[in-house]
Amino acid sequence: MNQNPLRILGIETSCDETAAAIYSTDGGVSSNVLFSQIDMHKRFGGVVPEIASRSHLEKIQGIINDALEQAHVTLDDIDVIAVTTKPGLPGSLLVGVCFAKALSWAKEKQIIGVNHLEAHIFSSCIENNVPFPHLCIAASGGHTSLYLVRDFGVYECIGQTRDDAAGEAFDKVAKMLDLPYPGGPEIEKLATEVGFKDFFSYPRSKHLALDLSFSGLKTAVLYDLVARNAYDLKTKKLLSDSLELKQQVASSLLVCVRDMLTTVIERALKQYPEIQAVTFVGGVACNKYLRQSLQDAASKYQKPFFAPAPKYCGDNGAMIAFVGHYKAQRQEFSDLFLDILH
Ligand code: KG4
Ligand code: ZN
Repeated sequence: MNQNPLRILGIETSCDETAAAIYSTDGGVSSNVLFSQIDMHKRFGGVVPEIASRSHLEKIQGIINDALEQAHVTLDDIDVIAVTTKPGLPGSLLVGVCFAKALSWAKEKQIIGVNHLEAHIFSSCIENNVPFPHLCIAASGGHTSLYLVRDFGVYECIGQTRDDAAGEAFDKVAKMLDLPYPGGPEIEKLATEVGFKDFFSYPRSKHLALDLSFSGLKTAVLYDLVARNAYDLKTKKLLSDSLELKQQVASSLLVCVRDMLTTVIERALKQYPEIQAVTFVGGVACNKYLRQSLQDAASKYQKPFFAPAPKYCGDNGAMIAFVGHYKAQRQEFSDLFLDILH
């Protein structure tokens, strides 16, 4: 293992954020810069892949320059370039990987391909000393999974959604309610206004062991709205402009997702008594109510709970650089044949 201090440039372009960060083994994160494309995709109600890759191309050089500048370093001070290679939108991933390879070749720097999900899993360790083995709940717009994490880079998936991701459920219900994209923060805001009560008792997926399912929940919300004469299935339009209804749907949805997540956490903690801590990562982990609820579930079992700072929950360059640092210490380098399918 290489014990000399290393400085890593992390690059992330897997979806709709162009992000870069500098992480060093002796000083941690010294910059974390991000351009979010959300406003470009908003009017389409979701991410448009072609728009995403074009925007990455325009932004990537400036974002990397900003990350270097804010960390008061130049490319010459960088030891390793870490870049997301999968999973993600192919066109978006290619922009980051091609840029990283060009830099690596031109500046003769080592390069490391990073799995985006691994980066989310270890994002809770950027600022915390999380003991191993721990249970990680990763919830974003594309994934919702439970991992048993044994060491840096050593983890196994022990449960996952069988259909939609948790974030997708928030985004899709928000769309039904005519709320802007992404839906998660809007749902949280409305639910906060009415105190997280369970108004409509939507059905919970119950019999899936450590797996989850959110697509039935989305359909249940839809048909409940139809039954209340608040939604027209033919035109796919909301027929009600009642704020109270939106608040009640949002609150009931959030409580339902909380119940599903805490149920699988408690099952996992019973099934794997060796678990030392619980972590919550991914964009959905920005949700304060869910963070508190999951923390409460963990403390019922006397387990410490860790969630990254919100800036490290959604997609970011720091988590890519962080994975790059432990891979570099183990000399797990990639080469210029690196591509998005490796
Ligand atoms: O990790 P992320 O930024 O991107 C993906 O890799 O998907 O996660 C985005 C997801 C979206 O579905 C968004 O609605 C959700 O995270 N999200 C939230 C909150 N903030 C973002 N969900 C619930 N509550 C929030 N406050
Ligand atoms: Zn992500």
